[in-house]
Amino acid sequence: MAKPKRRYICQACGSVTHRWQGQCADCGEWNTLAEEAPETVFSAKHDLSSGGRPIIFEALDAPGEVLKRRSTGLAEFDRALGGGLVPGSAVLMGGDPGIGKSTLLLQAAAKIALGGASSVYISGEEAAGQVRMRADRLGLAGAPISLASATSVRDILTTLSGMVPPALLVIDSIQTMHSDQIEGAPGTVSQVRASAFELIRYAKENGVALVLVGHVTKDGSIAGPRVLEHMVDVVMSFEGERSHQYRILRSIKNRFGPVDEIGVFAMEGQGLAEVGNPSMLFLSGRESPVPGSAVFPAIEGTRPVLVEVQALIVRLQSGATPRRAVVGWDSGRLAMLLAVLEARCGLNFSSAEVYLNVAGGYRLADPAADLAVAAALVSALADKPLAADAVWFGEVSLAGEIRPVAHSSIRLRESAKLGFGRAFGPSDANGGESATRFTGLGLLPNLVDRIVGHA
Ligand code: TYD
Ligand code: MG
Repeated sequence: MAKPKRRYICQACGSVTHRWQGQCADCGEWNTLAEEAPETVFSAKHDLSSGGRPIIFEALDAPGEVLKRRSTGLAEFDRALGGGLVPGSAVLMGGDPGIGKSTLLLQAAAKIALGGASSVYISGEEAAGQVRMRADRLGLAGAPISLASATSVRDILTTLSGMVPPALLVIDSIQTMHSDQIEGAPGTVSQVRASAFELIRYAKENGVALVLVGHVTKDGSIAGPRVLEHMVDVVMSFEGERSHQYRILRSIKNRFGPVDEIGVFAMEGQGLAEVGNPSMLFLSGRESPVPGSAVFPAIEGTRPVLVEVQALIVRLQSGATPRRAVVGWDSGRLAMLLAVLEARCGLNFSSAEVYLNVAGGYRLADPAADLAVAAALVSALADKPLAADAVWFGEVSLAGEIRPVAHSSIRLRESAKLGFGRAFGPSDANGGESATRFTGLGLLPNLVDRIVGHA
C-alpha cells in the first residue's frame, strides 16, 4: 500500500505542500507550515454527474426576502455592520488579544437578550464563571443569556438542535473549537475550517446570526485561517492600542453593506461605551490648535485611519548643520518635500532644524501624506496653527503640483464621520457625497498662501 503523502498546510494562507519549508511559497510568511492529516475521501464515486439532488434555478428579479436586520443594541456596532446583524449570516470578529472582543460581544448578546430575543454565548477560552464575572462588572448579570463553556462543535450543535434556534450565537473563539470529523488540534487550519463550516451551516439553516471570534496575528490578519474570511459573510476587525482607551470597529468585508463604515468605542471601567462624536478621539490631545499639527486621512490597506502629523522647526543661530529627524515617515521623502517647498514656494528651511513625527506610533507609507506633511511644515515655519477641523491629503510632485491620489471619497467620508468639516487636497479629487467641505489646492504655493495668508 502506498504510504500516505505528508501534507503541510500554511497556517496563514491555507496553501498545501508536501514538503516542509521554512517559508510559505505562496504567501511568503515564515514558519507557518504545519503538518496536518490528509483529507479523507468520503466516496469512491468520482463521477459527480449523477446521484445528486436537482437544484432549483431562480430569476434574478424574483421576489426575494427583504434583509431583516437585528439591532445589536449598540448603535456603533450596528453602524459598522451596515445596519445590524442579518439572520442566517456569519460574522468573523478579529482583533488583538485583550482589545475587547469578548466584552463587546457579551454586551451585544446581553442587549439582544434584554430585548426579548434569545442569545447564546459559548466561550471556549473562559469558564462560565469568568464570563459571569465579566457580566457582573458590566452590570449585565441580569440579562437572560444562555451561557456555556464548550469547545466541541458536536456538543454545541447537538445541544442547539434540541432547542429553538437563538437569534444570536457567539462562539468565542473559533480557534478553540474542535470538530471530531477531522483530525488535528484545535486552532489548525483544518480544524478551524471544519468547525466554522459546521457552525455556519447550522446558522444558515436556522436563521441564526452567528458571530465567530478570531485571533489575530502580529501582521493584523486573522490568525491561521485566512481561508475563514472566504467562508463568512462579514469580516470585522476590532482595533486600538491596548494602552489607550479608544477602539475602532471596522468591517473589512461585508456581503450586506458598505465596508467603510466604522464604529467607535471607549473601553471604560464598565465595558465599552459608544463614542457618539469620535472627533473627540483626536481633539482630546489637541485642545487648542498648535502650529505644526496637521491631520491626514490615511488609507491603511483598504482601511481609512486618521493620523496626526506633527512638525517642529527650530531656527539655528549659528552656522551648525541643522538636524532633520523623522519618526513614522520616510526621511528621503521629507528631504524631497523640503526641497520642493524651498524651490517652488520660496520658503527657507536651510538654517533650521526640522523634526517630523507621526502621532500614535503610526508608520505612514501612503504618498498622499505629502500634503499633510507640507501643511504641518508650513504651519510650523509660519508659526500659525491650521484650522482644527481640517484634513489634508495629496501627493506632491517635484514641480510642486498637488497630484490626485486614490480613495479620496473614502478619505472624505471617514473625515466626515470623525467630525472634520474641511478637507484640502488635489484639485480634481472626487469629493463624492461627503459632509466634509472639500477645497482643491492645485499647486503647492496655494497651500502656503492659505496657511500664511489666513490665520
Ligand atoms: P476582552 O473583552 O477580554 O478582550 P478580548 O476578548 O478581545 O481578548 O477585554 C479585555 C480587556 O478589557 C482587559 O484587559 C480589561 C479590559 N476591560 C475594561 O477595561 N473594562 C471592562 O469593563 C472590561 C470587561 C474589560
Ligand atoms: Mg476574549
